Amino acid sequence: MGQAGAALERVTIPTLARYKSEGRPIVMTTAYDAVAARIADPMVDMLLVGDSVGNVCLGFDNTLPVSMAMMTHHLDAVMRTGPRALVVADMPFLSYHLSPEDTVRNAGAFLQRGAAAVKLEGGAGRVDLVRRLVDCEIPVMGHLGLTPQSVHRMGGFKVQGRDGAAAHALLDDAYALQEAGCFSLVLEGIPADLAARVTEILDIPTIGIGAGPDCSGQVLVFHDILGLLDSHRAKFVRTYIEGFDLLRAALGRWAEDVRSGDFPGEGESYRLPEAAHAVVAGWVPKGMAEQDEEA
Ligand code: KIV
Repeated sequence: MGQAGAALERVTIPTLARYKSEGRPIVMTTAYDAVAARIADPMVDMLLVGDSVGNVCLGFDNTLPVSMAMMTHHLDAVMRTGPRALVVADMPFLSYHLSPEDTVRNAGAFLQRGAAAVKLEGGAGRVDLVRRLVDCEIPVMGHLGLTPQSVHRMGGFKVQGRDGAAAHALLDDAYALQEAGCFSLVLEGIPADLAARVTEILDIPTIGIGAGPDCSGQVLVFHDILGLLDSHRAKFVRTYIEGFDLLRAALGRWAEDVRSGDFPGEGESYRLPEAAHAVVAGWVPKGMAEQDEEA
């Protein structure tokens, strides 16, 4: 059973810390628009306006083409719904790579538009940046493991941290991000036992995606949960309805109804008042009416 119906509390960063200390799993999904935000908000603790909007909704092969302008467009749509879940906005590629000033300006713009936090990808190399953002009162969620903006360095979307050295480096990165002030970490595409160890050594909550059951919480892309994509599904995805097929079948029924003349019916149409029928029936183009009078 979901949360709907219960008195829903507004989720804040201290709420998430409390959930971790209580062992209460944290639930996050993506939202890129107002419809998804309204559907998901009562069911989850966090809404991520993810740069995955690039490949999920905008037709790109990966997240690299996603810009600040695209992200703010989608963040604004989500914020207009007034969500009670905590909204995290993803920092897109090149929005935190050029200079600390540029990073603060971009992250700050997300907070000014209503997000409560930003997420950025990378480990020890981001520590100074995270400190700078946290100093500016901008809460930061880290993201380690399979970081989609590193698709070319990784040689594809591949599980990370699979040997001792890589696992050790990831533990170092996770600890460094926590010490720099991250309030939470996404762990994506890493072995479950490594994610469990990260979760154990950190005080801050970990949110897993393809990282096994022992994280402090889980995130899945909204469209994956609802089966809205007709593309390859990763092993870690669990789909609860075949949305793509169901929606296509529904649209097919509507198209059939239009073609058969069944749609729109009387109940789906507006009618003129009786008195206006004669006016409408007697209408002729202006010039023609004058010609009729002359003749
Ligand atoms: O953009 C995104 O959807 C993400 C999640 C996969 C964590 O970063």
